[in-house]
Amino acid sequence: MDFLQLAQKRQSIRGFLPTPVTDEQVQTLLAAAVAAPSGGNRQPWHFYVITNRGVVDQIVEKSCKQPFLKTAPVLIVVCAEPGRSGERYGERGATLYCLQDTAAAVQNILLCAADLGLGTCWCGAFDEAALSEILALPETLRPVAILPVGHFESAPPRRPRRPMEEVVTFVK
Ligand SMILES: Cc1cc2nc3c(=O)[nH]c(=O)nc-3n(C[C@H](O)[C@H](O)[C@H](O)COP(=O)(O)O)c2cc1C
Repeated sequence: MDFLQLAQKRQSIRGFLPTPVTDEQVQTLLAAAVAAPSGGNRQPWHFYVITNRGVVDQIVEKSCKQPFLKTAPVLIVVCAEPGRSGERYGERGATLYCLQDTAAAVQNILLCAADLGLGTCWCGAFDEAALSEILALPETLRPVAILPVGHFESAPPRRPRRPMEEVVTFVK
């Protein structure tokens, strides 16, 4: 599969089979995550890998009220560390670079999962304070994405994309 095929293969999956995700697969996803670029190579991220069903239930009940998350054998919560970028780049680092860096890490995880034949979904709609409390995050970390990971039976129809001419301008 070439890269464009992989990028186009990835799609959001919102329902998973109980088949476990192996530790090796999780390690591969994490290796892909930390291969992402980051401003000044600050790597302002931390990844929580959650398989504890009680914690997953709390997340769905109190933070990310999207029940399909409960079907995923693994959740990866991607956190940004704004202070790490901020200490070198000030406000731009703390409010922009660290979010761009973690977004790059998220996309690497999603693409790697697609390459492994696993499904994922980038979930950003959650109560940050509640999630921070459930995971007992240090104040230095800001949770930015919840990524359910798992095997799946069938993918939904692909979501359409805006036409190229609407989103691209060539400046020649
Ligand atoms: C920043 C961000 C936040 C998102 N939050 C959610 C979410 O909370 N729940 C969800 O089901 N999908 C979420 N999505 C997935 C989008 O709905 C999805 O990527 C989009 O509809 C395109 O579909 P595709 O991923 O299948 O290509 C999010 C995506 C991004 C990039």
